[in-house]
Amino acid sequence: MLIKTGRDGFNHSLSSEITPHAVYRQRREIMRLMAGGAAGAALASWAGRQALAQAQRPGKLAALPGAKSAVPGAVTMEKFTDYKDATSYNNFYEFGTDKADPAKNAHTLKTAPWTVEIEGLVRKPGKYALEDLLKLSAQEERVYRLRCVEGWSMVIPWVGYSLSKLVEKVEPAGNAKFVEFVTLADPKTMPFVGSRVLDWPYVEGLRLDEAMHPLTLLAFGMYGEVLPNQNGAPVRLVVPWKYGFKSAKSLVKIRFTDREPRTAWNKAAANEYGFYSNVNPNVDHPRWSQATERRIGEDGLFAKKRKTLMFNGYEAQVGQLYAGLDLTKNY
Ligand code: MTE
Repeated sequence: MLIKTGRDGFNHSLSSEITPHAVYRQRREIMRLMAGGAAGAALASWAGRQALAQAQRPGKLAALPGAKSAVPGAVTMEKFTDYKDATSYNNFYEFGTDKADPAKNAHTLKTAPWTVEIEGLVRKPGKYALEDLLKLSAQEERVYRLRCVEGWSMVIPWVGYSLSKLVEKVEPAGNAKFVEFVTLADPKTMPFVGSRVLDWPYVEGLRLDEAMHPLTLLAFGMYGEVLPNQNGAPVRLVVPWKYGFKSAKSLVKIRFTDREPRTAWNKAAANEYGFYSNVNPNVDHPRWSQATERRIGEDGLFAKKRKTLMFNGYEAQVGQLYAGLDLTKNY
């Protein structure tokens, strides 16, 4: 983001650091299935992936499973990023600007009780308890690519439901055109709130039609469990076709407005971080190219960079939202 971390110089742990016990469990599962003969082989590769996904979980947090989503484009078949990487290489500036800081510091975040306030141009404003939000709609698993503006990406199995379910429930007024997402800024539990790096609270925004798109996810969990604090517990946004910073963590307020919201990163550096922030390999960041990305976990000496896809690979689903819009000006 604004602070230069060096596009290539990250220091997250390698995916090969899966515990020996987990690897053992995975192998045993595969061998058990292989014993079923040739017909078992295809099943074994599937089961192997499942066993591996299972092994990557810490098993410490409360389970929050979701049925596989039927929303078009919501489940990419790419390999999941290791849980360990997804939870130890984070951007959550309220807990520090180093990628390792959130995992170290976010244990102080108090996630219960938690409410999300709905306000602004809406017929049913009010404070919604987390428990009520969790019950509002069935939990789904969505396997999304998350492309960070800094040039890396991950594939994460999220658990949640379309934000549109909540938006429909609270009934936006006819003149509501945008949605502002305000996140927690508590100096007592978040050591970097108060630092000058951003104007707190961290605020993000979407056009109402973007917020209503079925891919826009209100996420409560990942890898079949509730969200770890460093990933934005207890509730966050995930907007898979936009750069990662649009996916605001630890939401406390959702405000409906008729004006484009000022976002935290736009306030910090408007020429670098626009309101739209759609993933776009053709529009460079002023300080670096956005044409390629590194998938976290594929960082060996000879690992190739991947080509970044328009709208992060979700063009078929969301491209029409931007018909007629000049994407170089509206970056
Ligand atoms: N939300 C808050 N409140 N504070 C932040 O610093 N960082 C953003 C986004 N949401 C951020 C935030 C950025 S830059 C990214 S890339 C993603 O969270 C990272 O999400 P992850 O750590 O779960 O991968």
